[in-house]
Amino acid sequence: MNDVIMVTGATGVLGREVLERVRRTGLPVRALTRKAPPPVTPGVEWFTGDLAKGDGLAAAFAGVRTVIHCATDVRRFKNDIPAFQHLLEASKRADVEHIVNISIVGVDRIPYPYYRIKLEGERLLAGSGIGWTTLRATQFPDLIDLALGFLAKSPVLIVPSGTSCQPVDRGEVADRLVELAQGGPAGRVPDLAGPKVYPLVRLAKDWAAAAGKRRLVLPVFIPGKIGAGFRSGALTAPDRAVGVRTWEDYLTAEVAGRNAT
Ligand SMILES: NC(=O)c1ccc[n+]([C@@H]2O[C@H](COP(=O)([O-])OP(=O)(O)OC[C@H]3O[C@@H](n4cnc5c(N)ncnc54)[C@H](OP(=O)(O)O)[C@@H]3O)[C@@H](O)[C@H]2O)c1
Repeated sequence: MNDVIMVTGATGVLGREVLERVRRTGLPVRALTRKAPPPVTPGVEWFTGDLAKGDGLAAAFAGVRTVIHCATDVRRFKNDIPAFQHLLEASKRADVEHIVNISIVGVDRIPYPYYRIKLEGERLLAGSGIGWTTLRATQFPDLIDLALGFLAKSPVLIVPSGTSCQPVDRGEVADRLVELAQGGPAGRVPDLAGPKVYPLVRLAKDWAAAAGKRRLVLPVFIPGKIGAGFRSGALTAPDRAVGVRTWEDYLTAEVAGRNAT
């Protein structure tokens, strides 16, 4: 039987973790990147291809049975729609049996432009005729860390007021995606959220303390439907707090002591 698993977005924050876990299963694994493939990774067959343009996909997908789709282009997120369409076309041509898709908690409740695109991706996959599984997860601490690092270029850390997050470890999300890929198509599965819900203000203060940055944290009211969506709790899933690694664990392991200023 053909057990080849393709990981898209395999150089990304989540995709790297997924790739490593699939590699450890011993199943044949392929990885997609737009760049030149990295130096030889034992047990991984790298392919260069661009989902948004549709380039290089026929060779990359030939013989694949399962795809774990972690690719996204957050800066040019509208490209994620053609990318999804090309993914589905290439998968159909290759007789892929199962696409496992990662989405975000709240994409259907917050009209944030990137979330609209994620929701459209979910819809395209569900209507594709290919077996599918979609897992929605909450934010990775890495994303919060990156965003706060960017905001910390200013002396004031501005965060949306009344908004909470429930950070979930990227490795735990990767574990779940690989588990789902080894099962059959399951449709929309229960969300995956981190162990605790935190006000964003608290996350920003904790982050600044761990990073050794003296910054004023300023909650700002975001008007309109997007701000209301953030304040509604739609970024969190308290009834799905199944993650284990905490925000504090992340700060200790990955932020503390880094370039204090
Ligand atoms: N970050 C979060 O907090 C979070 C939370 C829940 C769900 N998610 C979802 O998890 C997924 C992965 O997020 P991430 O944070 O790991 O993203 P990321 O670090 O930005 O990685 C994105 C990956 O996508 C690849 N990519 C982008 N455009 C591509 C294209 N046109 N063709 C082929 N590959 C392309 C990039 O590979 P190359 O540059 O090597 O081509 C990169 O490996 C996304 O679907 C995101 O919505 C993220």
